[in-house]
Amino acid sequence: MAKQQRIGILTAGGDSPGLNAAIRAVGKSALGYYGMELVGFRDGFRGLAEDRRLRLDKSTLAGILTVGGTILGTSRDKPHRMEIDGRKRDMTRVIVSNCEKHGLDAVVCLGGGGTQKSALRLAQAGLPVITLPKTIDNDVAMTDATFGFDTALGIATEAIDRLHSTAHSHHRIVVAEIMGHRSGWLALGAGIAGGADVILIPEIPYDISAIAQAIRRRSKHGTNFSIVAVAEGAISKQDAHAFEIALERKAKARDKVQRQAAQLELEALEVKHRGNTLRLANHLEELTHLESRVTILGYVQRGGTPSAADRLLATRLGTACADLIHRKVFGVMVAARGDSAEPVPLEEVAGKLKTVPLGHPWLESARRVGTCLGDGEDSQN
Ligand code: F6P
Repeated sequence: MAKQQRIGILTAGGDSPGLNAAIRAVGKSALGYYGMELVGFRDGFRGLAEDRRLRLDKSTLAGILTVGGTILGTSRDKPHRMEIDGRKRDMTRVIVSNCEKHGLDAVVCLGGGGTQKSALRLAQAGLPVITLPKTIDNDVAMTDATFGFDTALGIATEAIDRLHSTAHSHHRIVVAEIMGHRSGWLALGAGIAGGADVILIPEIPYDISAIAQAIRRRSKHGTNFSIVAVAEGAISKQDAHAFEIALERKAKARDKVQRQAAQLELEALEVKHRGNTLRLANHLEELTHLESRVTILGYVQRGGTPSAADRLLATRLGTACADLIHRKVFGVMVAARGDSAEPVPLEEVAGKLKTVPLGHPWLESARRVGTCLGDGEDSQN
């Protein structure tokens, strides 16, 4: 009789709606359909390194489809640079030996871009790794979608809908900061769906005078309020230029001293960027003479019950994952492709960011309904 396959599962990176739906899908099909055994590791890769487990059986997997967050807990710890007793340590060998100790035939890692990179390292260290793409940012390469995005999109859109009331009643500019890390999918999608007047995304560095002009134009036509949907990673043309110069300096550094100086410069720019949304709102107030307010949506976008679309995607990818484990396909991410789920080698995913392409139809549609994208190329209707 063939040995029963034993699989480990963990969730890493930021929590996201749909994680529990995916754990349930992997788990129920692995246990019930394929007769495998399942063990959960707590708090991401840290749980694998510290051998902290959660028993996953039919009863633990019941009732979690609609629950936000992750029953396994999560962390941003990386296997090769984990803080242990105040020191950064490479825990790869410890992780490999823990997996061997438990006789794991597969290690399932649910996460975003960082998780895909860590998973590739573990695969290169010899572990049978398989991943699922999770993140509200939708920025994982080689997959049509990531679970978590649709829920966050709905939440951010509803927030923009609600912000309209106050912006309209008080004749204000309301700047809504939307997550997305270095990509603009969430801000662009929610901005379009919520009818934001200005949408700023990292892929299109903005010119503040072009934004002020668009807002003043609205006032001239009798609309004394504006909603600005700004991605947390959105950046002005000047700041983007400063980043480019610092990056170039780092790339061309001839010695350690030069490299460190360029690195410090980059870090200073990052720190400055943290207050960007507030500065943007203040600046727009000065330029337009309209009162401005900021709403930072933050973790509200990641919390609560997943949307139907995310539950469906997580279930589709999770069940496909169990099937791939059964067929012993490892070193891959289970990607969403149209209606199907396909394995993609981790090498093609790790370290690659899926940003909004400049020719993307969402951008053209936004421009055609008169949305200012901050680059002065508005259709002026
Ligand atoms: O990746 C999801 C995300 O919410 C990003 O949109 C955001 O930049 C980041 O996580 C926030 O990280 P943390 O959870 O560490 O605050």
